[in-house]
Amino acid sequence: MMTILAIDQGTTTTRAVLVGPDGGTRIVASLPHRQIHPAPGHVEHDPEELIRNLRSCLDAARAAGAPLAVGIDNQGESCLAWDAATGEAISPVLVWQDDRTRDVVDRLRADGAEDMVLSRAGLPLDPYFSASKLAWILREIPAARRLAGLGRLRLGTTDAFFRDRLTGRFETDVTTASRTALMNLDSCDWDPELCRLFGVPIEALPPIGPSTGDFGTLAGTGLRLTASLVDQQASLYGHGCRQAGDGKITFGTGGFALVVTDRRMAAGRDGPLPTIAWQKAGEAPVHALEGGVYCAASAVNWAQGLGLFAGHDDIGAFDGAPATLDGPVFVPALAGLACPHWDRRARGAWLGLGLDTGPGRMMQALLEGIALRMAEVVAVIGRHQPLTDPVPIDGGMAANAYFCRMLADCLERPVIVSDEPELTAVGTAALAAEVAGVAVATPRRGRRIDPRPLPSGLRARFDAARAAVQAFAAAG
Ligand code: G3P
Repeated sequence: MMTILAIDQGTTTTRAVLVGPDGGTRIVASLPHRQIHPAPGHVEHDPEELIRNLRSCLDAARAAGAPLAVGIDNQGESCLAWDAATGEAISPVLVWQDDRTRDVVDRLRADGAEDMVLSRAGLPLDPYFSASKLAWILREIPAARRLAGLGRLRLGTTDAFFRDRLTGRFETDVTTASRTALMNLDSCDWDPELCRLFGVPIEALPPIGPSTGDFGTLAGTGLRLTASLVDQQASLYGHGCRQAGDGKITFGTGGFALVVTDRRMAAGRDGPLPTIAWQKAGEAPVHALEGGVYCAASAVNWAQGLGLFAGHDDIGAFDGAPATLDGPVFVPALAGLACPHWDRRARGAWLGLGLDTGPGRMMQALLEGIALRMAEVVAVIGRHQPLTDPVPIDGGMAANAYFCRMLADCLERPVIVSDEPELTAVGTAALAAEVAGVAVATPRRGRRIDPRPLPSGLRARFDAARAAVQAFAAAG
């Protein structure tokens, strides 16, 4: 049977998934990599470990069959620097969650730069995006300055590094470039003014191209790379979203909602982010709106690490009223608040703890807090682009029945819990397949949950807790 290999290079694992014409998936490798935290707020990956895992994924897929083509999806904003002459990384991967450039970004905002970044890149000022991270590398890593002087410095998102190392072509795709804050969203090219503002040498950046095409042969495998894009955008495609209003939510490390739009949407500091959904070879880019919650499964895993629950079955069902209504309220700001608050200094909290509060109620509140934060995101997206119901969801947390039920209630719209857990891979494979002249189906299948009315006062209690967390952060 014809298969396409999708390699999903995400925040916590690199997975090789063989995808058939019916959209059926078979995982042939799933390799975790280290999450390196050298200082509070710093999150790094080892570039060589990621390359090793990508190569292992290619080997596993070749051993399992002979895929017709390969697509690779990547983390959105994570970036690094390397030497053009040797391909050797000279920095760690600074991961999208890393907020080491908070002060620089605050200074740019104080200097009045945000409107310019919003109007050109479509993004607010936030350490999340690659621009300030790439500038940090140039400022703080002497080898980067030395290589820049020699004309040998390469700066880019992880996809550009992978493609350079695996195909010998230094290129990035437009979806990934749209997450850097250096790309002009109208021209879909690097913006010299943005590069100047952040201090990123434009000549060190890769050419930007579409998300599909003939991207060369993956060294040592004979396999053709024909798709490369951000994982969240790949899962949008995998969910079968094609028309304006079609959207999805994925609950991985973070939770990310994306919806297709029929044009480039205007940006605002308090709104969702205009971004590129995908661009097929020879076609115009398709636009989208995006909004995220930085901590979703990472908050659940963190709580498990604290010993608040043992196994995932322990937190799949809770009796009685939501905890947020009359018990503890959880604000999932463990790495700050993204859309629509953009408050990187905020930190997570349970408010309203009493002597009667046990770990079960704390976990119930934690799941509700993530659902309520996602509801804030979807509400602002919906003000700009009405969403088509039901909204499909996927990712690890979609396996939690209590969370999915609360999400439908908080969104006040029906959701479909996808029964295919590898939709990111399906989307990547579907795009890669088109270039190879074959089709991979992206059917929408899953369990529908209709919303029930939210108890009155619940949302107000969450809003009060979120505001308290922000006031606490502002107090220093
Ligand atoms: O923007 C970050 C996003 O690409 C991360 O997705 O699935 O790796 O957590 P994931």
